[in-house]
This record gives sequence, C-alpha cells and structure tokens, in this order.
Amino acid sequence: MKIIMLGAPGAGKGTQAKMIAEKYSIPHISTGDIFRANIKNGTELGKEAKTYMDQGKLVPDELTVKILLDRVAADDCKNGYVLDGFPRTIPQAEVLENELNKLGDKIDYAIDVNVPDENIIKRMSGRRACLSCGATYHIEHIPPKKEGVCDKCGSELVLRDDDKPETVKKRLDVYHAQTQPLIEFYTERNILKTVDGTQDMKDVFAAITAILD
Ligand code: AP5
Ligand code: MG
Ligand code: ZN
Repeated sequence: MKIIMLGAPGAGKGTQAKMIAEKYSIPHISTGDIFRANIKNGTELGKEAKTYMDQGKLVPDELTVKILLDRVAADDCKNGYVLDGFPRTIPQAEVLENELNKLGDKIDYAIDVNVPDENIIKRMSGRRACLSCGATYHIEHIPPKKEGVCDKCGSELVLRDDDKPETVKKRLDVYHAQTQPLIEFYTERNILKTVDGTQDMKDVFAAITAILD
C-alpha cells in the first residue's frame, strides 16, 4: 500500500503517518525528518536545506525529488510506504507519478488531514521534537514521560527552529500557495480522502484506518 499524507504544517501528518506505518508494517518516510537528520549531522545537504527551512520556504524540487526517489527505491519499500511531507508541489507530484508509472505502479491513497490555520498556530508552539529519532510530542496533548526528554531514545526535546510563530505563518502561506493545489491533483485521480484533523489523535487515526482497511 502506497499512501501520501497531505495537510498543512502541523496538521498532524507525522503523528498519523507513524501510526499508519506501525499498523500496516510499512516505512514512514518524511522528507522533513530526512532534512533535519542531515542538518543535525552537518552534511552539505543539511546546510543547504537549512537556509530554506529556517525561512519557512520549501527546499528546491530538484534536491527534494532526488532524495525521495532514492529512498523509495530501497528494499524496505517493496510492499509500500507512507509519505509524509512529500509531494509538496505539483512538479514533485508529477515526478513521483511518472516514476511509479514506469514501474507499472501507483499511489493508492492521498489522505488530507484537514485543520484550519487558527488551530495550527496554537498547536505548533506546544510541539516538542526529538532531533535524534524524529519522535514528536505536545506539551499539553502528548507530553513525554519526563519533561524535555524523549521517551523513545532519551535525547533532549527541542522547539523546532521553524516552529516560531512568524515562521509558522510563513509556512502556512507557502502551504496555501504551493501545496494545497495537490488536493485537486489527487481529487482528479480519484484517490483523495479527507479526514477531520481537529479531532482527537485516536479519532483521526480511526477515520484513516476506516479508509485503509
Ligand atoms: P516538515 O517536517 O514536513 O514540516 P511540515 O509539513 O511543516 O509539517 P510538520 O512536521 O510541522 O507538521 P505535521 O503535519 O507532521 O504535524 P505533527 O504530527 O508533528 O517540513 C519542514 C520543512 O522541510 C518545510 O518547511 C520545508 O522547508 C522542508 N521540506 C520538507 N519536505 C519538503 C518537500 N517535499 N519539498 C520541499 N521542501 C520540503 O503535529 C503537530 C503538533 O500537533 C505536534 O505537537 C503533535 O503532537 C500535535 N498533534 C498532532 N495531532 C494532534 C491532534 N489530533 N490533536 C492535538 N494535537 C495534535
Ligand atoms: Mg511532520
Ligand atoms: Zn528520540
């Protein structure tokens, strides 16, 4: 099963994608997590990506597409995957579609996790992220067992550089201009499913599994 998670920054794509990956035993692939891991390790890719990410802009398509196509070509992707944060532009979606076409393959579902902008700004300021393993928490909704420490790997939790309110606003603008058109793109292909992302995490997940099962 090949799934794309759509939705604004902070809609809960990552939260749901991790639960989907576990339930259906497929890898969770987040381009944002890949970039953040590169930033943390000080790679050339990380240095370049950071200049865009810190401003709330998208990393250029050429760079992003190459990374994603390499990742989905790996062995563990043979039975499918859940993409979180890719595609984010129409050109990215077209490249993915063409590459899958060549293999006689296609995306099964594009799931839009729908959350209005007002809710998003509130959510992001409470998010805490582990830059070591990619786990995310929320100081109110999903607190870690010990404040400031990742339950999964024991690393320090941080407020992401791009989660400052000014940058979140910019990311929302970029989302509406460049990513939202994908909703129509996947509607035309008859694979778009919309879920209400303002519900409790477990209710959002129930809505998603009702689609996938
Ligand atoms: P990326 O890492 O993908 O960030 P994003 O899309 O902005 O999304 P987030 O990770 O911020 O939110 P999310 O939807 O995963 O929400 P989460 O589950 O964490 O990308 C970062 C940057 O990298 C981009 O800005 C861009 O520069 C670059 N980039 C990445 N991919 C790219 C691409 N394809 N092309 C070009 N550039 C790219 O949830 C948010 C918070 O809410 C958490 O605290 C969570 O605990 C909480 N929460 C989740 N669900 C609920 C719920 N139901 N109720 C209450 N709280 C909830
Ligand atoms: Mg995410
Ligand atoms: Zn961790």
